[in-house]
Amino acid sequence: MTPTAEQPQGSSGLSGKNPIDSVTVMNELVLPNDTNVLNNLMGGRLLHWMDICAAITAQKHSSRTVVTASVDNVSFQRGIRLGNLVTLTARVTRAFHTSMEVHLEVWAENIPARERFRCNEAYFTFVAVDHSGHPIQVPELIPQNESEQKLFDEALKRRQLRLVLAGRMKPSEANELKTLFI
Ligand SMILES: CC(C)(COP(=O)(O)OP(=O)(O)OC[C@H]1O[C@@H](n2cnc3c(N)ncnc32)[C@H](O)[C@@H]1OP(=O)(O)O)[C@@H](O)C(=O)NCCC(=O)NCCS
Repeated sequence: MTPTAEQPQGSSGLSGKNPIDSVTVMNELVLPNDTNVLNNLMGGRLLHWMDICAAITAQKHSSRTVVTASVDNVSFQRGIRLGNLVTLTARVTRAFHTSMEVHLEVWAENIPARERFRCNEAYFTFVAVDHSGHPIQVPELIPQNESEQKLFDEALKRRQLRLVLAGRMKPSEANELKTLFI
């Protein structure tokens, strides 16, 4: 993927980056070792691939080592069969101070049957860390179109919800989240 031009520096002092510059597409073929006794892809294996794909994206955005801070709820809507091709696409939706939200989308394809279907999606949060494992500031994300702007705007509510659930934010402080209920 060709990187777009660097953006002007944001308030962090780091140059802002475009979402497209860190988009990651990963392909995996479902082999016998990846399946359960029903010949379906195991959920844990899919989560592993999702974590890797999303982490690569966060690393590309931050140019740092990243750790997974949280994974929002994941539901498996349809089984993925032995022999299917699994395509995972990850993009950063918003960068905060040291953390980044990454949206993951998973598609499966039965190539001989020419059948392709969307399996699931999830939001991951990664934190950029320095050599000692301490959180470190990341560049801003600058949305470039309407759908990127929508993901960016809504990311604040998702962040507040996960921080409230993790006991890291008081519900009374989650102002944007509250607008969903009142
Ligand atoms: C994630 C981690 C670096 C946060 O460290 P910390 O000392 O709590 O740091 P802070 O309180 O300064 O938080 C740093 C950032 O993490 C975010 N964060 C922390 N816990 C979070 C959670 N459960 N969900 C979402 N974001 C979280 C904070 O909101 C903050 O983001 P911001 O800087 O953009 O505002 C630390 O908890 C860690 O190393 N966890 C283990 C990571 C790991 O091993 N992952 C693999 C799982 S097996």
